[in-house]
Amino acid sequence: MTYDDIRKAFLGYFESHGHKIVPSASLIPNDPTLLFTVAGMVPWKGILQGVEPAFAPRVADVQKCIRAGGKHNDLEDVGFDGRHHTFFEMLGNWSFGDYFKEEAIAMSWELLTQVFMLDPNRIVVTTHISDGDATAIWKKITGKEAIRLDKDNWWSAGDTGPCGPCTEMHYDMGADLPGGLPGSPDEDGGRYVEIWNDVFMQYDRDANGNLNPLPKQNVDTGAGLERVAAVLQGKTDNYDTDLFVSLKRAVSDLTGVAETADNVASFKIITDHLRSVGFAIADGVIPSNTDRGYVIRRILRRAMRHGQLLGHRGSLLSKLYPALVQEMGSAYPELVANEKRVVEIIENEENAFSDMLQNGMKLLDAELPKINNGILPGDVAFKLFDTYGFPLDLTQMILRDKNIAVDVAGFEKSMAEQKERSRADTKGTRVLWESQSLPATDDSSKYTPDATMQSRVLAILRNGEFVKSANSGDDVEIALDKTNFYGTQGGQVGDMGTILRNGDVVMNVGEATRVDNVVIHKGTLTADISVDDIVTTQINESTRQQTARAHTATHLLQAALQKVLNDDVEQRGSKVSPDSVRFDFSFGRAMTDEEKKSVEELVNKWIVADMPVKHEEMSLDEAKAKGAMALFSEKYGDTVKVITAGDVSCELCGGTHVYHTGEIIKAKLNKEKSISSGIRRITMSVGTLAE
Ligand code: ALA
Repeated sequence: MTYDDIRKAFLGYFESHGHKIVPSASLIPNDPTLLFTVAGMVPWKGILQGVEPAFAPRVADVQKCIRAGGKHNDLEDVGFDGRHHTFFEMLGNWSFGDYFKEEAIAMSWELLTQVFMLDPNRIVVTTHISDGDATAIWKKITGKEAIRLDKDNWWSAGDTGPCGPCTEMHYDMGADLPGGLPGSPDEDGGRYVEIWNDVFMQYDRDANGNLNPLPKQNVDTGAGLERVAAVLQGKTDNYDTDLFVSLKRAVSDLTGVAETADNVASFKIITDHLRSVGFAIADGVIPSNTDRGYVIRRILRRAMRHGQLLGHRGSLLSKLYPALVQEMGSAYPELVANEKRVVEIIENEENAFSDMLQNGMKLLDAELPKINNGILPGDVAFKLFDTYGFPLDLTQMILRDKNIAVDVAGFEKSMAEQKERSRADTKGTRVLWESQSLPATDDSSKYTPDATMQSRVLAILRNGEFVKSANSGDDVEIALDKTNFYGTQGGQVGDMGTILRNGDVVMNVGEATRVDNVVIHKGTLTADISVDDIVTTQINESTRQQTARAHTATHLLQAALQKVLNDDVEQRGSKVSPDSVRFDFSFGRAMTDEEKKSVEELVNKWIVADMPVKHEEMSLDEAKAKGAMALFSEKYGDTVKVITAGDVSCELCGGTHVYHTGEIIKAKLNKEKSISSGIRRITMSVGTLAE
């Protein structure tokens, strides 16, 4: 049976036994305790806990899962055996307070032996040591004596939440294979493969570790489709089943390299990682430096390293994605619907890492001969991380077959030292700039930048010293008498852009910041520069626009929170970056999913309405009379800027903003969490990022 046949047979069996068939839920769980959907039960957690009503007493589905971070993490094992995956499909059937142990076991048995036609004599079952009922049911239905185990037969998705004893079904792949019975010391040898797990969800574990009985007894089952396929196709390696054979062929076609015993790990890793990265991005994950975005970035970079081992350079997963669509697109239409976007995101990510990978490998190769104790020094691993974007686990993976370990404690020490240095740097340069007593920068043109405006270089800071002139290639900080740049202020990050002299770029500015009233341009020189040089300043329009739409969206967000939650919601801090917003506000509890949805809908409604955004200057008294919102912690001058979006928001604000709410394009709420007592933090993406 192929993957398609197995999915159909499984769902068909349960449909004929009264189950409602539903499509897979997203890989991004609606659950702050998990990075990804790690099991079929994740979307049903609320129902299992009894806090959400069940929409049907019996349900079955095939759920996309990723186990690559947190409690359920198989990333390190992928490639080195035949049965680990970061992405896999889980066949599952549920009883929400309907049938319990007896019927669940009877159906599992019937499906395995009558539909999948597996040899009953080769099926071994296990139950929990405490579970006399399940043990007796197996005996009654099949005559089998279950092996009774402890840890392996207790299942939970996370440290808290629904859990309970389980019974597992294992298949004997043949006496010629190494490995012992489940529970024996060599159970992982490969002879017995776990193909199905029926969990009897009876308890809810709370944060103190107490097991509280659930209001209803439920059944949660999970059968890894890849393992079932291997068993049904007579393969001892999941990666030899039909779906993977096709994906591996695509890898071979792209790289021009045939699979051999020596490179098979790379074939497995690339095909596995293609599925995780492709499915996750199709579900809306964006590679980034935090949380699930970082997990996906790490997986993508690991895949690229294995492409490199096959002699391949440049784009890899973006080129293989069409093969994934071909294999799995009919079962998962979201792969097809998002194809263009997914390929683009993967391609950008691959382009960004491609050179870093080559250069980082050169550094690593130069370090290897110096190692004589089998351990790569932590500072080298840190340099690879910091300069070349090598996640720690990538470096570990590269060194694994050379039997070299990484000094992880040393890596962490370097990381902590660098954080300390950058804190000290920020503090240090502030003191240095303050010592100069420069006049306030005239940045009045920041709202309507004038690329022809002439500015004079007042001071140049290089390596902690003020210099009269600096050279091309130097990292410097520069103060001018006038600038178009918005220097970081009021939560809005500063502009990027360039400084030019006679029309030629002399400096790439990564960020404009501020020390009190002086705008500091930080960046790298592309030509020599001296104090008193006359220059022009040019901001990067597209990041300015991205920041402006994030800032106006922040005002809409505050207004929406006040409407949906209550009028007392108050801003407690914010960070406005290109296309993304972090907003802290006073509120005593977590927002419900409904509330989050309403806030998001309201913000988007206002965006679609394309309301005009007025930018006005007036006296503080006039603004107060107008009812403009202000942050009490901020100091304001006599004349203030007031930003008014349609009739929904009116705020005192010195930031840069769009002129019509439609420019924001779209808003998407990402996360809402507590940061301290009574203060919540919400993150939101806007513009193309939200799209
Ligand atoms: N939730 C159970 C598992 O993942 C079925 O094994």
